[in-house]
Amino acid sequence: MELNLLRLFFFIACFCPTIMVEGLVRRYKFDVVMKNTSRLCSSKPIVTVNGKSPGPTLYAREDDTVLIRVVNHVKYNVSIHWHGIRQLRTGWADGPAYITQCPIRPGHNYLYNFTITGQRGTLLWHAHILWLRATVHGAIVILPKIGVPYPFPKPHKEVVVVLGEWWKSDVEAVINEAIKSGLAPNVSDAHTINGHPGPLSKCSSQEGFKLSVEVGKTYMLRIINAALNEELFFKIAGHQLTVVEVDATYVKPFKTDTIVIAPGQTTNVLISANQGSGKYMVIASPFMDAPIAVDNTTATATLHYSGTLATSSTSFVSSPPKNATPVANKFVDSLRSLNSQKYPAKVPLSVDQSLFFTIGLGVNPCPSCKAGNGSRVVADINNVTFVMPTTALLQAHFFNIKGVFTTDFPGSPLVVFNYTGKQPTNLQTVSGTKLYRLPYNATVQLILQDTGMISPENHPIHLHGFNFFVVGKGIGNFDSKNDPNKFNLVDPVERNTISVPSGGWVAIRFRADNPGVWFLHCHLEVHTTWGLKMAFLVDNGKGPNQSLLPPPKDLPKC
Ligand code: C2O
Repeated sequence: MELNLLRLFFFIACFCPTIMVEGLVRRYKFDVVMKNTSRLCSSKPIVTVNGKSPGPTLYAREDDTVLIRVVNHVKYNVSIHWHGIRQLRTGWADGPAYITQCPIRPGHNYLYNFTITGQRGTLLWHAHILWLRATVHGAIVILPKIGVPYPFPKPHKEVVVVLGEWWKSDVEAVINEAIKSGLAPNVSDAHTINGHPGPLSKCSSQEGFKLSVEVGKTYMLRIINAALNEELFFKIAGHQLTVVEVDATYVKPFKTDTIVIAPGQTTNVLISANQGSGKYMVIASPFMDAPIAVDNTTATATLHYSGTLATSSTSFVSSPPKNATPVANKFVDSLRSLNSQKYPAKVPLSVDQSLFFTIGLGVNPCPSCKAGNGSRVVADINNVTFVMPTTALLQAHFFNIKGVFTTDFPGSPLVVFNYTGKQPTNLQTVSGTKLYRLPYNATVQLILQDTGMISPENHPIHLHGFNFFVVGKGIGNFDSKNDPNKFNLVDPVERNTISVPSGGWVAIRFRADNPGVWFLHCHLEVHTTWGLKMAFLVDNGKGPNQSLLPPPKDLPKC
């Protein structure tokens, strides 16, 4: 706190931010308020930040300290997560409710305080409690330090593109109904681009988001998937996309006509406005290659050349079939870390902790679940369905409060079976608040293996507190003898959220250099709700800057 004041003082005193070694202090105020909306098929009050959904874009530079005062004016408990921000030693500001903090109660507020270290690019913030992130989300734009260029030609303009999902009815009611029944919740009624389903939607009274361009110029789109439960394809008629960054890490640029983006992921692309004139359709449509219901609507927007007549027709583009696995694979398999001298890929080459997590669904008894015939769908990691504590785990850890969690999360499955073969007869899981403990600075290899329990499915897994390298990926069961020989330890993509393919696996590596409690979960909110989550407890190191900082005084109480 004092340090921040000091920085602010320096800033005011000398007014010379460019010569300061440390970053600036950026202050934001997020008022969480109800707001009536009428743009999307129904008019109902929704939970927003500052009356907008998507909410305000948070702008900062690498090395800046960001202070966000979140004031809760709604009837729900609230917490906000800065998805992808490393939060080095500042887990108190990470945001997942009951993991790193108790929620901010109605009428209360909390000051999130963190410094952005070694990161630049696009991320997102979102509510991290219940299903509020459906409408409570927005972009984080981290610019490089002053004087540091992008490792690609500077675009003429940058545009934030937030993809989302919209329910006509209240999302809290949707998920509460599902929990009661034991069955899956209703799929959404529309996808959105910057809050609008677009001109092709039956749910639209407006033309939707308009991307205005001038011929001959290059634009950078900062694309964010803020949807709750669906991976999305994104493409623009008549224009190629040059991918330059994902999850706030630079990649080797490559051209594609379609990107696939999972909830929680971000992708920066360059587009050249090289078509002369006209209007071009921009689309976002679902990717689902398992027999699972999705919202099959396509959100649309328009890319509009300046000088084009309002009456001129729009060039259309069709969306890939929802089960277009090859389209998704082609994109995902093209991603490589930039791995330049300035931005090296620091892949851990040796492994201290080798972990194997199966991820999937299950079925547990639920006497009160009538619609589910006395059982409910659950989800698990290594057959453990995570139970949310009522005291935040980070507090329990820091203050040594007993009885909140145990550290016996299994590092590999207790029962070995053919994960992607015939479905086992017993689909039951065990429940618990189990953490996996990691020594400070351990190098971790984690195999995430999808299972066919109920159905194989693509799961976007997000790790808080770290970026990881995606060193391998495959279909079927991971083969610990042969698959590691094919790992890419040179320039694997670095990210914070990775899609585990349907009936397949991915291998990730990271260094546990951030002490605290860090959530790992499926970023399909329905699966998080069902228990597809766990947390790592990373010990303090022995060095001077290797311990979790003490909590701020205004940390919310449970
Ligand atoms: Cu973007 Cu734990 O989430």
